Amino acid sequence: METVGIALLGVGTVGSAVVETVLRKGAEIGQREGITLEVRWGLARRVERVLAAGLPERAATTSIEPILEDPLVSVVVEAMGGEEPAATYMKRALEAGKHVVTANKEALSKHFAELVATARARNRALLFEASVGAGIPLMASLRQILTVNRIERIRGIVNGTTNFILTMMAEEGMAYHDALREAQRLGYAEPDPTADVEGYDAAYKLSILASLAAGTHIPPDRVDRRGITSVTPDQILDARARGGAVKLIAEAVARNGGWELRVQPVFVPGSDLLAHVRRNLNAIELTCDRVGSIVLYGPGAGPAPTAAALVADVLDAVRFGAALLPKLKGAS
Ligand SMILES: NC(=O)c1ccc[n+]([C@@H]2O[C@H](COP(=O)([O-])OP(=O)(O)OC[C@H]3O[C@@H](n4cnc5c(N)ncnc54)[C@H](OP(=O)(O)O)[C@@H]3O)[C@@H](O)[C@H]2O)c1
Repeated sequence: METVGIALLGVGTVGSAVVETVLRKGAEIGQREGITLEVRWGLARRVERVLAAGLPERAATTSIEPILEDPLVSVVVEAMGGEEPAATYMKRALEAGKHVVTANKEALSKHFAELVATARARNRALLFEASVGAGIPLMASLRQILTVNRIERIRGIVNGTTNFILTMMAEEGMAYHDALREAQRLGYAEPDPTADVEGYDAAYKLSILASLAAGTHIPPDRVDRRGITSVTPDQILDARARGGAVKLIAEAVARNGGWELRVQPVFVPGSDLLAHVRRNLNAIELTCDRVGSIVLYGPGAGPAPTAAALVADVLDAVRFGAALLPKLKGAS
């Protein structure tokens, strides 16, 4: 049985769920895959956070250095969030010969080409299934689809928080601020909801999906972005009366040899599947030249689905290494 040493960068909601997943599913994975997963390190700003996740004191660190120096760490799982220091830590981990698996759409979307290039130069894996759509197997599907197809359009609901707020406004007649408070109470929205409600989170995710489809890095500042803060109850009720819904739609379209990317609240008619995606669920439609249209639907956030995607990526990193790296122009 092969033992795979893991270091967790970030032991918050997602990182703790990775520890729990390894504890709960480790034996089953070991039996089936012949791989024992060992969480050797947990990095956080506060050591108590690492201990609260159930890791021993010797695994707790506030510095990346012991992780980079540990020869028994083969995969670094990044679940810190934010652009920095996450992006630098991922780059340093790849340079130190570790595979990297991440849930961080912000750092990845802003540094995609550089991270892929570093992974390729070091012959290491960089996997990011959890960064968009959490447990929905989007990246695995894209890899499969893109071997033969050209993707002409990506269109979807990729932010569960805003979809929950819009659903509450439509179905419960709530005002925006009440719906936001309800989302915060249920843990679907952060105390500072800016990244979600202003559409940044959706723009990061769209940037990643469009970059893969285009085969070149399209950074998130290329997204024409508008959030949901200006959506009025009247617009929502009017959409409902017309049999549809207002949804925050992320869309990337291949046009005239380039790509147009936008995130904005729009009216979606009832005849469209996306109008029926409720609460904090996600759905992404891929329009492909050979397969036609595909919709992937499911829980786009939450600790358990996100951690499941991260742990699956850890196994793929060990099994396939750099073979699963995306083809991005300028990154090879
Ligand atoms: N939550 C979800 O459902 C979900 C779903 C998909 C993807 N994601 C992504 O997963 C990532 C993590 O999200 P989360 O919800 O788990 O966040 P979180 O609960 O805030 O946890 C972040 C963790 O990272 C640590 N950290 C942050 N900055 C650090 C720094 N500069 N140095 C050392 N440690 C640092 C924190 O340490 P302290 O505990 O000491 O503060 C904490 O342990 C984000 O990129 C997020 O977008 C989350």
